[in-house]
Amino acid sequence: MATLVTTISETLRYRGKIGQWSWVFHRLSGLGIVLFVYLHVIDTSWAAFYPASYAKAIHEYQSPIFTLGEFGLVAAVIYHAINGYRIILLDFRPQLWHLQQRAARIVFAIVLVILIPVFILMFGHVLNFYDEVGINNVGDIIGGNDKVLSVAEAVGNQLKFAIGLAVALGVALVGSFVLAFFNNENPAENVSPVKRSSQLDVWFWKFMRYSGLLILPLVFGHLAMMHVIQGVFDLTGPGTSIIGTEATNQAGSALAFVGARWDYLVAGVAVWRFYDGALLGLIVLHGFYGLHLVINDYTHNRVINRALNWVIVFGAVLLILLGAAALIAGVEDTARTIVIESASR
Ligand code: HEM
Ligand code: HEM
Repeated sequence: MATLVTTISETLRYRGKIGQWSWVFHRLSGLGIVLFVYLHVIDTSWAAFYPASYAKAIHEYQSPIFTLGEFGLVAAVIYHAINGYRIILLDFRPQLWHLQQRAARIVFAIVLVILIPVFILMFGHVLNFYDEVGINNVGDIIGGNDKVLSVAEAVGNQLKFAIGLAVALGVALVGSFVLAFFNNENPAENVSPVKRSSQLDVWFWKFMRYSGLLILPLVFGHLAMMHVIQGVFDLTGPGTSIIGTEATNQAGSALAFVGARWDYLVAGVAVWRFYDGALLGLIVLHGFYGLHLVINDYTHNRVINRALNWVIVFGAVLLILLGAAALIAGVEDTARTIVIESASR
């Protein structure tokens, strides 16, 4: 904790070069995306296992507070990806290190050039939707109406995720203290800051770079489909075409949208299931290992560090299993007609 406070205060105090801010933004954007992925993989699994909850989750994605978050998320993904490529390039071409300040500036410029048209297109989807559901003043944006959730409701509905995380952390901390007791460990002891890199660390160092290279096209493709070409709002648009398939969403049901995508075959192969599966495996491993790096930077107490790393490992395994189970199960035919009245247009 003290290390985290020092990092924040020194970052704000240090009149450092642009590289300092690149590091801060890379870390914050990575953490923000991990948080979203935690909610998103659980939400998406409901399409297979709790269809009514999935319809409600998409209704939440369409609320104004999530729309604000969506813009932040897209900015975070684009910045993290482009800056990630800069890190990868400089790591594999160390002779270019003298150009790193300029490279950091170029990254900010590229991000801006991508974000401007992307935000304009995304904003177009938002305006269309707000027009149709009758959201046209700040009061409606905050308070919602009969078709759109209020800020309070949308945030309140996320409480279950916070509680789930708090319970997992609590159980891991108790477990780690019990283990310390049986192992006769001193609970105040710190993990050694100078640790020799294991073979696994070296493997993961490479994995973080190669996976980043692969994630970029997959995640940009996913975002293009869900935010730019179509918007989150088109998941429930009656009569809207379902992107990446030849189907039309007659009922305007989010479940029909996901079901049609997962069932869409090209030469007998369910291409979107494989696409989502690859995205799932890569981002969970990359994101949660990134989380492990951040945790190790700030948490030096042995018992707490072990508990947090348990949560990371169990969390990653659980998300991969849950996401994969949903992809294998698919969306039941009977579930596809579920339309939450207020979410329909
Ligand atoms: C608000 C923004 C987003 C929306 C509306 C959205 C929408 C969806 C939808 C509808 C699906 C169901 C499958 C499909 O139709 O292909 C899905 C699955 C998935 N999305 Fe997103 N997505 C968003 C952002 C992201 C981001 C930023 C990432 C990665 C960083 C991501 C990763 C995934 C993964 C891994 C799956 C598969 C999950 C599983 O196997 O259960 N999504 N997303
Ligand atoms: C889109 C393509 C992406 C690229 C090119 C990329 C690249 C990178 C690179 C090169 C690192 C540094 C690794 C190290 O220090 O060993 C990194 C760290 C990280 N990434 Fe990504 N990444 C991408 C997507 C993602 C996604 C989707 C997530 C979240 C699920 C994520 C979360 C993180 C986290 C939490 C870190 C650790 C940050 C830190 O140590 O400060 N990344 N990424």
